Amino acid sequence: MEAWVLTRYADVLAALREPRLTAGGARGGTELDRAAHLRFRARASAAASGMLAEWLERLGPLARDMARALPKDRTVDLVGELAQPWSAQIARCLACPGGDPDRLAALSGDIFAAAANPRDTALQARAEQATLELAGAFSGELAAFHVQAFVALSQTLPCFLANAWLALLDDPERAEMLRAEPELMPQAIEELLRHSGPSRAQFRRAAEGVELGGATIAKGDRVALMLAAANRDPEQFPEPARLDFRRGPPRHLAFGEGRQACIGASLVRAASESATAAFIENFAGARVEQPVEWRGGFAICAPASLLVSRCCTAASENNRQPAVTDR
Ligand code: HEM
Repeated sequence: MEAWVLTRYADVLAALREPRLTAGGARGGTELDRAAHLRFRARASAAASGMLAEWLERLGPLARDMARALPKDRTVDLVGELAQPWSAQIARCLACPGGDPDRLAALSGDIFAAAANPRDTALQARAEQATLELAGAFSGELAAFHVQAFVALSQTLPCFLANAWLALLDDPERAEMLRAEPELMPQAIEELLRHSGPSRAQFRRAAEGVELGGATIAKGDRVALMLAAANRDPEQFPEPARLDFRRGPPRHLAFGEGRQACIGASLVRAASESATAAFIENFAGARVEQPVEWRGGFAICAPASLLVSRCCTAASENNRQPAVTDR
């Protein structure tokens, strides 16, 4: 990667908070100046709150109706038949683009593929074109934010749901706990973001020399901030591979931290609570039917499909294998 690779929680957190490590270039764009970035964040945060207020009441019923409508007598793909179409629908409603839905989905898929594989120059070039075309579907000064929101809702959100549901399918006790105590859902989503957050890495470049974790990062050096590794740092999270809905601090880094932290975090939390409640109601205790194949790449990854069946016989229970799968 020709980069410093940070995996410890303390180092990743320090890097996220370090103003001399900038996101410009690594994201394929230029770093906005500080004041412009703050203005962007203020306007984008207000837009994200507006989306949330408008849609909060409709997210849950929509997820529940879609989950209930899935057939019980055949294998169901929880990604292709629930997480993706539900997320696509809320992306279209929340971000309100004009244009052909299939084309918009293809464009956001191209942008997602490039974000997941930041070293793939062909994907980056394709994503630049896709971003321009997708921006044309939105109007107003917040078009850039709407592109990000549309891609995040239609691509990153279903990745998180797929990761989270796979973790719950692999840990039926925790799924049952959530079914019995639905009030645990907000804590469960936080723990699932820590355990199974889809964004594995963010990149920075040093605008000046920086001392970090005992190393000297020279001006111009590239730095990979491994969010997923930090979220499983055993020094911060004992038994990090275990789901524990009652974990205390520190906070996970699934949404980043500091001046570039995710603007859609509240939206993702609310949406994930609704969708996961629908998943638990209908699929807690389901079994995964095939080894999981993954989509994405180094920076973001999640199951491409999640084939589950709800008709478990005693024989099939005896043959039950854990589905996972370390990413
Ligand atoms: C599960 C879904 C999501 C995950 C895991 C996620 C994760 C992240 C992370 C880790 C960052 C920090 C990037 C960095 O430090 O360089 C970020 C930034 C951002 N996210 Fe999200 N995000 C998600 C969904 C969303 C949604 C739904 C929206 C919009 C509605 C959104 C809007 C943004 C924006 C605008 C930024 C850039 C903030 C800035 O440049 O100041 N994200 N996201």
